[in-house]
Amino acid sequence: MAADAPRAAVVEGSYSLFHADAFDWLAAAPVNSIEAVVTDPPYGLIEYTEEQLKKRKSGSGGVWRIPPSFDGHKRSPLPRFTVLKADDHQRLRDFFAKLAAGLIRVMVPGAHLFIATNPLVSYLVYEPLIQAGFEKRGEIIRLVQTLRGGDRPKNAEDEFPMVSVMPRSCWEPWGLFRKPCEGRVHENLRRWKTGGLRRISEKEPFRDVIESSVARNGERKIAPHPSLKPQHFLRQLCRAALPLGEGTILDPFMGSGSTVAAAVACGAKAVGIEANEEYFVMAAKAVGALATHRVNGEG
Ligand SMILES: C[S@@+](CC[C@H](N)C(=O)[O-])C[C@H]1O[C@@H](n2cnc3c(N)ncnc32)[C@H](O)[C@@H]1O
Repeated sequence: MAADAPRAAVVEGSYSLFHADAFDWLAAAPVNSIEAVVTDPPYGLIEYTEEQLKKRKSGSGGVWRIPPSFDGHKRSPLPRFTVLKADDHQRLRDFFAKLAAGLIRVMVPGAHLFIATNPLVSYLVYEPLIQAGFEKRGEIIRLVQTLRGGDRPKNAEDEFPMVSVMPRSCWEPWGLFRKPCEGRVHENLRRWKTGGLRRISEKEPFRDVIESSVARNGERKIAPHPSLKPQHFLRQLCRAALPLGEGTILDPFMGSGSTVAAAVACGAKAVGIEANEEYFVMAAKAVGALATHRVNGEG
């Protein structure tokens, strides 16, 4: 790290967690030092501000809304991105332009970026990344039953019982980007250990549709973050992200540290950044337990 880089607050064997602003950390990190980025950013931007988190806690207005309950179960609030206005969209573009500039500097040539988004705003995330010089390499479709969309017109539900305003969302897009390679892919693999994606086996390539679910209760107990992503899914991304199984995976918006844990579970080195103190403390406790947590279909 450069001399003025934020200090690591937690350094364990193969991972470091920083309580810092992602942009400050990126500005201080050395050029060409990260082999992959797997991240789930605050893509509505406003949902993790102090004001919105207070509204979430008190249950009064704001971007966090309780989805309608159709089966008697209590729901957790979800951020609703339909409330974003034109100036929020511009802020979103500016945010991702700044992130793209910070990432492309620290990532090695050929390094991949997996970035979570949602069908409403993904174009606002992808364009700034491409403008900064990233190549779009595809999109990972995480098949997951969310509680977004599918509602009847508000205040006229009985009048239009057969109408939904939007489809019930059953997938989550993860943009897949690459910093351009130096020379051909095989040359880049030799020099930087990056440029491709790790196959599932010699016969089976990594695929872009992944069946998933919301994070299960066992993981939620370890890491009660409002946007917790499941280990089963993240481990597949982290494994694919390092084609030779060597290098460091960065999550600049680590929340509870789920990506760091997934990277550790795959045997990779990892760095996580989190600006919110409560979530940083959560991650410091959760990473070890999440990394060793047994998930469905894993031995
Ligand atoms: C969508 S959540 C990530 C949740 C994570 N995937 C998990 O499974 O726990 C985004 C996180 O980014 C953090 N964040 C927002 N702005 C940040 C910034 N400028 N620097 C670092 N972290 C930030 C938020 O506090 C939030 O915890």
